[in-house]
Parts: sequence; structure tokens; C-alpha cells
Amino acid sequence: MLPTIAREADAVVMIDQRKLPAEEVYVRCRTAAEVARAIKSMVIRGAPAIGVAAAMGIALGIRNSKSTGTQKLAAEFYKICELMAATRPTAVNLFWAIDRMKREFAAAVEVGESVDQIQDRLDQEAQLIHDEDVASCRAMGAFGADLVPADARILTHCNAGALATAGYGTALGVIRGAVEKGKRVVVFADETRPFLQGARLTAWELVRDGIDTTVITDNMSGALMRQGKVDLVIVGADRIAANGDTANKVGTYTVAVLAREHRIPFYVAAPMSTIDLNTADGDHIPIEERNAREVTHVGGLQLAPDGAHVWNPAFDVTPHHLIAGIITERGIFRPPYAESLKRGFEQVTLA
Ligand code: MRU
Repeated sequence: MLPTIAREADAVVMIDQRKLPAEEVYVRCRTAAEVARAIKSMVIRGAPAIGVAAAMGIALGIRNSKSTGTQKLAAEFYKICELMAATRPTAVNLFWAIDRMKREFAAAVEVGESVDQIQDRLDQEAQLIHDEDVASCRAMGAFGADLVPADARILTHCNAGALATAGYGTALGVIRGAVEKGKRVVVFADETRPFLQGARLTAWELVRDGIDTTVITDNMSGALMRQGKVDLVIVGADRIAANGDTANKVGTYTVAVLAREHRIPFYVAAPMSTIDLNTADGDHIPIEERNAREVTHVGGLQLAPDGAHVWNPAFDVTPHHLIAGIITERGIFRPPYAESLKRGFEQVTLA
């Protein structure tokens, strides 16, 4: 499996997702600020992966600290947390991971741990967040595989794979789970303008796994569905509101509307850490807007004239009524989501 992100004694190491598939280059971040920059500039991206990166970045920052007392260390700690929180606003996993690190820090201070002990504790928590994410993806894969017909043509948007998580993937985890259960799967990967996560990353992962993969441009999915060539759609998520409205890579909403028109089931696969019961609905999910150059240029090539205005929202919201099920490590949630998601946090495993 792909090493998306790993901790070394003095660094957080990530595969540079801006360069794939042309180059497999690893970036070594030696400070918390470098990790924050890597998240912002999309060296690492995908909701669960940026949560893991933030946690490891915080642990690294505190490991590098020269503070000898916990009071100074606390000031440094909260500053690093702010730095991480300011990187990308939409994926709630980022804030969820930062909150976990804050809880650990507070617990350590409460029992009077030394600086060394706090450093160890934060390293362990970051690694736990990483390891739990892989386990969640595998559980999601096993649950979701049951939704996949024996012979399935699956459309996915963006990259919700090993690269977007600590490993295995959410939407691609379900696809991997189905393949592991002996199902014959072919995948259509939307190229996913403007960052091309589908063409560059999803196709790269699936081809490496020997899974039949066809890349289409984003404007082709309607034609594909109309020709009866898609059996189901599975995508990931950056934040799922309490009512089931789901923010994911821009273009997901278009695919969901098309799927409804063609009576194709549309599923979301995401860990519980992507579900945000504190956000009532999709209208309250903050949507990141990225710079114009991502739209006007591909690589060094200019596509749009100077002077044209650009709108570049990184995500859109798919309303809950278009979603057939939300696949998580605790099972598959069905509508009405306002009730099922709430119940999901109270149960260990769904039937
Ligand atoms: O801008 P990105 O590449 O971070 O957006 C990623 C997505 O929208 C993914 O679909 C989502 O984070 C789910 S990843 C398991």
C-alpha cells in the first residue's frame, strides 16, 4: 500500500501529490510551519490525510520545542494548533484532529507531565490518529463492498483513495473491498478540474492496483450515464453536516444530480471523523476558495486570457436527498440522516 504520510524522528514525510503521476517525490517537513505549508499548498490533500498531517505536524512542532516548562510549551502548542487550523477550512477532519491533540495536551498538563512526557504523548496520539484512519478505511471497505454488484461499473469523483487518507481510502477503499471480495469492478474516474485529482491520483492508484480504470473529463459523466454505463457512484467527503448534506470536491453535486436523473445510486464513503453534528446543514459548511491560477493554468500553460474573472470554489455541497447511503466504519447510514447520523454516534456498530 502507498505510504501517503509517515513520521520520522525529526520530520513528517509525505509523497508530493502535486507532482504525481509524473514524479514520485517525497517531501520532508522538518517544522510545524513546513507541515502547515504542505497542507495549504496541497503536497498532501484529502480530508482524513490532512487531519493526520496536522496531528503529526503539531507533534513535530512540540518535539522541536526548546521550552523547558509546560507554561511556555502550552503557548507554543496553541500557536501551532492555530497555524494548522488556518490551512484549509472545509474538511472537518482537520479540526477534529487538532481537537484530539488539544485534549491530549490538556490531559497531560492536568496530571503534571514533564515536557518529555508531553512530547511522547503527542507523538503517540498522532500515530494513533494515523493508524485508526487506516483501520476505518478497511472497515468502510468491508461494509461498502456489500453494496457493489458482482459486476460493477463505478463512477468516482476526485481522489478518495490511499493518497487522501492514511492508507486504503474511503471511496476507493470500498472499491478495493469489493475487489477483495471477488467482484469484477471497472472504475470511471472523473478527471476533476482544476487540480486533476481524478486523472492524476485516482487513476494512478487504481492502475497500480491492477483495477480496470477509465479516465473521463468532468463533462462526460452525463453522456456515460445516459448510455447506461454506470451502475453506482461512490465519492468521499470533506464534511458531512448533521442532516446528511455533504461537502466534497467541486463537481460532486453535478454528478449527484445526474445520478438521480438516471436512477443510479449515489453513495458517500467517509469516516465518522468527517461527520460534523455541530454543523446543521450544507449551507453552514465553509467552502474554501482557491487561487485563480489553478483554473487559468495547467502546469505552465495558460488556458484563459489575462483579465478574465475566475471563480474557484474547491468544494460543493450535495444535498442529503440525493445520497442513497453514507458508508462509514460503523456501518451504512440511511436516510433520514438527521436521525441515523445522530444515532450512529451513540452506537458502536450498526446492524
Ligand atoms: O482539495 P482536496 O484534494 O483536498 O479535496 C479532496 C476531496 O474532496 C476528497 O474527495 C475528500 O477529501 C475525501 S478524501 C477520502
